[in-house]
Amino acid sequence: MTLKNAATAVRLNAHAPYSNFKVGAAIRAASGQIYAGCNVENVAYPEGTCAEAGAIAAMVAAGETQLTEVFVIADCPAPIPPCGGCRQKLAEFGASDVAVTLATTDGDEQTTTIGDLLPGKFDASHMDRS
Ligand code: THU
Repeated sequence: MTLKNAATAVRLNAHAPYSNFKVGAAIRAASGQIYAGCNVENVAYPEGTCAEAGAIAAMVAAGETQLTEVFVIADCPAPIPPCGGCRQKLAEFGASDVAVTLATTDGDEQTTTIGDLLPGKFDASHMDRS
């Protein structure tokens, strides 16, 4: 199973009746295992969750906390950019040089890194006052 195949498959399970915009995400963890997630919307709109958040939750629930590769796919005009919150979530579990491939269902792909997606990120050092 490739990350692309996992993200493409899980996207079909997205619960997106309000936006009609289905997103699939797959991440590879340090063990090599792939974890996948899709967006899960809610009638109380702010309660919806992104595909990336679902994949990260699956990884953490399985006992892993280090991700080494990310793939995100949606049916959009250009490779889907993760939202700001998901950039911070990815940065929590992946190093700056971790590759993030953004894709459209038409086959357009763009690879970037967690660091390039979130320059100037908030991290634990910003809470160090000593
Ligand atoms: N969405 C994701 O799942 N991931 C992203 O990176 C961008 C947006 C979802 C959230 C919502 O369910 C729908 O796409 C429209 O914003």
